[in-house]
Amino acid sequence: MRKRMVAGNWKMNKTPREAVDLVNLLKDKIDKEDVDVVLCVPAINLIAVAESIMHTNIKLGAENLHYENCGAYTGETSATMLKEIGVKYVIVGHSERRSYFKENDVIVNKKVLKAFEYGIIPIVCVGESLEEREDDITIEKIRIQVKKALKNLTDKQAESVVVAYEPIWAIGTGKHATNEQAQEICHEIRKCIGEMFGEKIAQKTRILYGGSVNGKNANELFAMPDIDGGLVGGASLKEEFANIVNADV
Ligand code: 13P
Repeated sequence: MRKRMVAGNWKMNKTPREAVDLVNLLKDKIDKEDVDVVLCVPAINLIAVAESIMHTNIKLGAENLHYENCGAYTGETSATMLKEIGVKYVIVGHSERRSYFKENDVIVNKKVLKAFEYGIIPIVCVGESLEEREDDITIEKIRIQVKKALKNLTDKQAESVVVAYEPIWAIGTGKHATNEQAQEICHEIRKCIGEMFGEKIAQKTRILYGGSVNGKNANELFAMPDIDGGLVGGASLKEEFANIVNADV
């Protein structure tokens, strides 16, 4: 039985003070014990959020990491730094980082391996563009991203990695994938993990859907057999996030 996960991706939003206010609001509203709740927040907010979520079930997540341990990488954050302040999860390969910061599948894989080296669980994002969907190459695209991102993982790591299917055309558009579209690709992702690591492991790996998830569509999406929760952008910046966590599936 896979435990549901609902992760918020705040992207480049909220100052440290605003972050604390939002966490305080959410803590009071979230009432599900059987869901892993993760807040992936900007690096500058990590320490403030770490303090605010103490003595709650909410887990701390980062939005990015560098694949080297330390050195001359101005502006970057290492896994060691994240680890020391209690980060448990880190988003890797978000489509915004792939497109604006030119992260490719090789870099994504290096980051995934580095996160695991420090005991941080990567939430690996994959997803097709509208053009790729229209050209009917969605499955091929997703399979390549999954195979490259999860290359050289141990069985144990493959079991604990989280994969988020985020169709690019659904991000921030208010137009989410239908339950069937999301299920189809999440199922493909599980199949692909099965080919790489075996069916038993694939049945344990959590696969999330992301892209315009909100308080209204979450329960139906999360009820699909291969969707184990969501990665939430816009709706994670407000009280609505608690409704998504609390969704009855
Ligand atoms: P939205 O929920 O705003 O569409 O963003 C999804 C996303 O990119 C989460 O990583």
